[in-house]
Amino acid sequence: MPTVFLNGEFLPHDQARVSVMDRGFLFGDGVYEVIPAYGGHLFRLQPHLQRLDNSLQAVRIPNPYTEPQWQGILEELVGENAGTDQSVYLQVTRGVMERRDHAFPADLKPTVFAMSNPIPEPDPALAEHGITAISLDDIRWQSCHIKAITLLPNVLLRQQAVEAGAAEAILLRDGEATEGAASNLFIVRDGLLITPPKGPLLLPGITRDLVIELAARHGIPYREGAISEAELRGADEVWLTSSTKEIMPVTTLDGVPVGDGRPGPLYRQMHGIYREYKQAVREGRAG
Ligand SMILES: Cc1ncc(COP(=O)(O)O)c(C=O)c1O
Repeated sequence: MPTVFLNGEFLPHDQARVSVMDRGFLFGDGVYEVIPAYGGHLFRLQPHLQRLDNSLQAVRIPNPYTEPQWQGILEELVGENAGTDQSVYLQVTRGVMERRDHAFPADLKPTVFAMSNPIPEPDPALAEHGITAISLDDIRWQSCHIKAITLLPNVLLRQQAVEAGAAEAILLRDGEATEGAASNLFIVRDGLLITPPKGPLLLPGITRDLVIELAARHGIPYREGAISEAELRGADEVWLTSSTKEIMPVTTLDGVPVGDGRPGPLYRQMHGIYREYKQAVREGRAG
């Protein structure tokens, strides 16, 4: 039975209970993070905790813990659970109210929940063949930089992708490609790696930032800039990134091959660099 963390306690998964008056349950009033741990080492912990703090501030929920306290809780959770590689999910909701009201009282105590599950290595077939994606209109709100637990549009978009036989949906808003339903977007054009700049219309992905950092470190030319729908469709390579899925090469978009229909040379280079970085985290040589 996996161990979870709930409001200061570590307990078996099936004993964790949250009130039906929790604002997370009734309104989706909360924020979350997903943090991989490789060989017991939390991946890019500081940027994840910074993004958590940014999300909490944006929705006016006090951060219940300091960075060292979060680190202690999450390391203990990973230590309690099985799996060399794990994915930690944590969420903080605004707390439990006395009667249902959209407006929130100032003195609520946030509900803190975290769990950790084993994650397998990405399927090697992915690097070999890539994934299929479809494009969909971005039906989300104007504050996609907040990692809110209110995920109904993302749920519906990804379900639409799955029902269309695709692994992910790439979202279009006002003629521009923003990100995936649960991932960030990169394209390659004439050897240049391009990803949309951060802003309220996309989640500032931790993997996105790492890919940019690794590109800079390895002399791969990159630019942060808007990607029009035409540029997306004409790209030599399309990648989607996320903490748990890492870097996914999109080889078919809306039924049309991307480039020559196989993972491209820049993807293969970055995939190797990323794998080395992940191994360094596992061995405690990188964070
Ligand atoms: C909408 C969205 N964009 C981007 C990402 C990727 O973010 P990260 O690399 O921090 O996992 C996610 C991750 O879940 C996401 O839900």
